[in-house]
Amino acid sequence: MNNFNFHVSTEILFGKGRINELPKVLKKYGKNVLLVYGGKSIKVNKIYNKINELLTSFNIYELSGVEPNPRIESVRDGVKICKENKIDVILAVGGGSVIDCAKVTACGAFYNGDAWDIVKQTFKPEKAIPIVTVLTLAATGSEMNSSAVITNFETNEKLGVTIPITLPKTSILDPTYLFTLPAIQTAAGTADIMSHIFEVYFNNSKTAFVTDRFCESLLKTCIKYLPIALKEPDNYEARSNLMWAGSLAINGLCACGKFDESWSCHPIEHQLSAYYDITHGTGLAILTPHWMRYILSEKTVDKFDEYAKNVWNLPENKDKMFLANQAIDLTEQFFKKCGIPMTLSELGIDDSKFEIMAQKAVKARNLQNAYIPLKEDDIIQIFKNSL
Ligand code: NZQ
Ligand code: ZN
Repeated sequence: MNNFNFHVSTEILFGKGRINELPKVLKKYGKNVLLVYGGKSIKVNKIYNKINELLTSFNIYELSGVEPNPRIESVRDGVKICKENKIDVILAVGGGSVIDCAKVTACGAFYNGDAWDIVKQTFKPEKAIPIVTVLTLAATGSEMNSSAVITNFETNEKLGVTIPITLPKTSILDPTYLFTLPAIQTAAGTADIMSHIFEVYFNNSKTAFVTDRFCESLLKTCIKYLPIALKEPDNYEARSNLMWAGSLAINGLCACGKFDESWSCHPIEHQLSAYYDITHGTGLAILTPHWMRYILSEKTVDKFDEYAKNVWNLPENKDKMFLANQAIDLTEQFFKKCGIPMTLSELGIDDSKFEIMAQKAVKARNLQNAYIPLKEDDIIQIFKNSL
């Protein structure tokens, strides 16, 4: 087990009706609240009305229309509102896009330059407006981590940045808010959760036994409950388990004691989103089985064998390479059965941008330091196999 730091101070208020505690939570920070949200969903499922009823003694300002794959323009709009209205606390209500937009906005409020500098990391923020979240989509874990991913479609860049001071102070996780999710968002969100685990489970460390078993239990949770949530969108047990799995998958717990290796599928997927504006989890579901097959070798077969036996319950007494391939096939079939389009062609993506996207993926993260190092040619091949 390698040395590690683990400190996640976000207060989680989990369960039905916890939104009623919002006034008490926000009061600690002040009266001027910036409510950040996306499109119609929080109005359709009435969270918007509920929040307005609860917060009558606060001054509410709004940043609405935050897009999936949130744009830097939305952040700039949010920064302007914060500066003009002395915002005390940001309340982000939505999925990862809304929360990520809130995080960079929170820092931009104390910066006189352009907020894109924060995403590019040419400016390192030291101050941020406190953030409280109400989560409506189980996927990114943004409600319990300090990362944000923002897109600049002028330059086709989708970049992630980690800013510890933006870690949400409190996150309200009411699984009933997931009941209204469209099936594709439920499925893509779970594929994202699983990918966060794969990115650290497949690692060269061999001694973080406890962490590996923890990863496997979260993966099994996703495999058990996603089909149930798709069949019965209002199944509370399924939604609550998926919701908590999403937060635990990427708050650092799944990486404790392992080597600090670069992630693989995420930097590749971010290029697809930056050029084609696709759903993050869908891109990951498509790439993941092809990445797995590409890196499967005598060197990695033991880890895949562990994955096959512990996650997919494949029999002990078979050849490791056979089991590894079977586990990868099962992963692919699982996503497919859950209704995720499993080829790039289905999303209208052809090979015309493979080179530039591969170059950018290598540049965005040091993929030489990944579990299995990847160069541009490797990424192009993974794209081709995903067509
Ligand atoms: O805009 P509205 O109308 O709210 O609709 C949203 C949106 O269209 C809808 N939705 C959310 N909750 C709903 C709902 N519809 C009905 N009922 C509900 N309860 O879902 C759509 C997608 O929302 P979005 O926030 O974009 O999804 P997600 O949570 O998957 O976030 C994706 C973004 O997060 C980034 C991704 O790259 C992508 O930009 N990521 C952030 C990470 C982080 N901060 O740590 C890590 C991840 O790996 C990821 O990169
Ligand atoms: Zn992700």
